[in-house]
Amino acid sequence: MEFDELIKKRRSCRAFKPVPVTEDQLQAIVTAGQWAPSPLNEQPFEFISVTDPAVKAQIQKTGIEAKQIIEDNNGPAWAKKYPMNFIGEAPLILVVVYNPNKGGLGNYFGQPHGALQSTSACIQNMLLKATDIGLDSLWFTFFNPASLKTVLDIPTELDVAGAVLIGTPAMEAKAPPRRSPKIHRDRFSKE
Ligand SMILES: Cc1cc2nc3c(=O)[nH]c(=O)nc-3n(C[C@H](O)[C@H](O)[C@H](O)COP(=O)(O)O)c2cc1C
Repeated sequence: MEFDELIKKRRSCRAFKPVPVTEDQLQAIVTAGQWAPSPLNEQPFEFISVTDPAVKAQIQKTGIEAKQIIEDNNGPAWAKKYPMNFIGEAPLILVVVYNPNKGGLGNYFGQPHGALQSTSACIQNMLLKATDIGLDSLWFTFFNPASLKTVLDIPTELDVAGAVLIGTPAMEAKAPPRRSPKIHRDRFSKE
């Protein structure tokens, strides 16, 4: 797909058809992720590919728990209505974890986010690859990472960057509008 078209065609998908993601598609997507830049080329990320309906249901449950936490803490009303059922229906959930200690040299000068920055680039590569091969995706973070780590036996020293839902879209999602890019020239200006 042409690059600019690909960038704009990628859409967050919240309704999937029950069509499995093939092993070739999975490999193409994670390979795109692996080619993301990382500080010192440390490639701090790993992937957990979830297709077992029972495990997907447990991930969905962590989302339902997160909704309750928001409600208990008087969070925004819309969060209560967020539908979690599509989580368990996604054909593939790729949970992306990373080692926060593999962030290059930033810790020496107050920039400790290198590993998460790299993992975010990895995820974006994967979202774009999914679109490129005719699938849709969602970068999902509506869960308590501690609960997800327990569900998936993720080692304590790793952090969770997100659960990437992937599959064939059940409907075409509308593109939320973008603001015009705000470019400051030479220095940050307040206008
Ligand atoms: C770090 C991150 C976390 C996100 N978490 C969620 C989420 O938990 N649930 C959800 O429905 N969308 C989530 N999104 C998707 C955004 O809502 C979506 O990207 C935004 O509304 C723009 O829509 P588009 O992706 O279709 O262009 C997340 C996006 C990012 C980058």
